[in-house]
Amino acid sequence: MFVSGKQPRSGRSSGAAHVIAVGNEKGGSGKSTTAMHLAVALLKSGYSVATVDLDGRQLSLTRYIENRRRWARASRISLPVPDHFHVPPARKETITDAESEEFRALTDGLAAVEQTHEFVVIDTPGSDTFLSRLAHRIADTLVTPMNDSFIDFDVLGRVDPVSFEVLEMSQYALSVRDARRERRQTDNQILDWIVVRNRMSNITSRNEQKVASCLRNLSMQLGFRIADGISERVIFREFFPIGLTALDDFEEHVLGSRPTLSHLAARQEIRQLLAALRLPIDEVGRKRAEARQRYAQSIDQPIAMPDIFAN
Ligand SMILES: Nc1ncnc2c1ncn2[C@@H]1O[C@H](COP(=O)(O)OP(=O)(O)OP(=O)(O)O)[C@@H](O)[C@H]1O
Ligand SMILES: [Mg+2]
Repeated sequence: MFVSGKQPRSGRSSGAAHVIAVGNEKGGSGKSTTAMHLAVALLKSGYSVATVDLDGRQLSLTRYIENRRRWARASRISLPVPDHFHVPPARKETITDAESEEFRALTDGLAAVEQTHEFVVIDTPGSDTFLSRLAHRIADTLVTPMNDSFIDFDVLGRVDPVSFEVLEMSQYALSVRDARRERRQTDNQILDWIVVRNRMSNITSRNEQKVASCLRNLSMQLGFRIADGISERVIFREFFPIGLTALDDFEEHVLGSRPTLSHLAARQEIRQLLAALRLPIDEVGRKRAEARQRYAQSIDQPIAMPDIFAN
């Protein structure tokens, strides 16, 4: 539990960067892959992007970015790379001390980038950790990739095996609901939550149709939006060791192999996802960001943060 004290609102200073957290307590749902793709999509659209890896055990996003730098050097190509930092898990005598250290590491890291970057993309671990909960509370946009199956759906809601009605919300959904409520109370901001089905198969089975239908029901109960899905594609797994994404140039000397139709289709899916996020890169989004900034600037005194991590 984090002890309340004099902290900036939501643990952040009044920065201008729009924060996108990629989260799902279910492991292997595609968070790191999605985080990297969103970061590169924004870079390729001309925005300045910082990335944060809060999965200090696996460091998948950190490795992905390291691989990108290495591949660019080895192939003598120029690839846009986000400014990146990771927050290692703190080793302290008490949980409170460890959480305080992690809190400071994340907020210091964010303070260093939020005035100079337009977007911050945060990758979170596939488990309920202090840092993950913090990321969900500071985000403006939450993207939840979800494998297209009821095992993955189960972290959002429990489904009746006969009627396929959503019986109740699961732990992760409840914690996002709490994070949104607290965000609303602390600085009157709304966390926009988008769920994206990942690793979808080309042929839609009855089971997947049921997943889609249950997701629609749950989205109304929980107030998340559903983005068009991302297909299961071998290329997503091939990208990681060379640090590339579906947004990079598909020339053979960049890819290291011949591009395929799958590359083009994957790029289209990621672009659709980016559009579905409705980020402050169009007029409506910009107005929303300006209002957020004006509000933040009107606060000159940090306030005591409520016990936002109390159970
Ligand atoms: N659309 C996709 N098609 C094929 N493979 C995919 C797709 N998305 C992700 N993968 C693969 O699935 C695996 C898990 O993806 P990733 O590491 O992004 O998930 P994660 O949610 O970050 O996992 P963790 O919870 O362990 O951090 C990786 O091997 C990745 O390459
Ligand atoms: Mg990951």
